Amino acid sequence: MEIKVLGICGSPKKEKSSSEYLLAQALEAAKTIGEVETELLRLADYSILPCTGCDNCVRQKPCPEDAKDDVPKVLDKMEAAQGIIFASPSYFSTVPGLLKNLIDRSRTRKMLDHRLRDKIVGILVAAGLRHGGQETTASTIINYALSQGMIVAGGVGNPVTEAWAGMTGLQADGFTWRGTPKDEIAIRNSQLVGERIATLAQLISRKPET
Ligand SMILES: Cc1cc2nc3c(=O)[nH]c(=O)nc-3n(C[C@H](O)[C@H](O)[C@H](O)COP(=O)(O)O)c2cc1C
Repeated sequence: MEIKVLGICGSPKKEKSSSEYLLAQALEAAKTIGEVETELLRLADYSILPCTGCDNCVRQKPCPEDAKDDVPKVLDKMEAAQGIIFASPSYFSTVPGLLKNLIDRSRTRKMLDHRLRDKIVGILVAAGLRHGGQETTASTIINYALSQGMIVAGGVGNPVTEAWAGMTGLQADGFTWRGTPKDEIAIRNSQLVGERIATLAQLISRKPET
């Protein structure tokens, strides 16, 4: 069965984004599993207003902001995908406001009986520093995904040398990269994330044999 893996890049940058670069690597790897359609969605290309805290969604009434911006479009794409890979920069050791705004606005779908449940979720993070909040940023995304009933998964590669998420820091190359990390480890780990998310998304989409 053909499944869809959606890559969401949370960087506000429209070009030369390091997290987007890692995401592109992960999506390419996802395709190698076969019968996988991928899409790279750059949040910077969409209008995403912040949540105003009106709680309409809790009462299952329409979100007033949904009529004013592109959030419903993004959420529809998330609903249609079986796998979602979030790629985020570290901004003060967490996700940038752009991605946080999407996270908050997606509460509408949670309140509709967890419409984003069972999406297989993978994580990639780019920071400036070698130790620049990559794991705390990932942790924000993990906690978000769990709140939505999603299933968080990591890459599975060499148990000694490869990690569950693609994480990089520009400092490793003297801050000379812009958009194309020369970080072979981060690239490899991002590929592992892509493969794993596609594999699990295929598995969960398989219809039980009758
Ligand atoms: C507002 C802001 C906050 C940032 N905070 C951090 C930080 O806490 N730690 C860090 O290592 N880098 C930080 N950075 C640097 C970015 O994480 C880094 O440039 C990253 O590569 C950006 O990813 P992108 O190219 O995908 O946008 C920050 C950058 C900005 C603009």
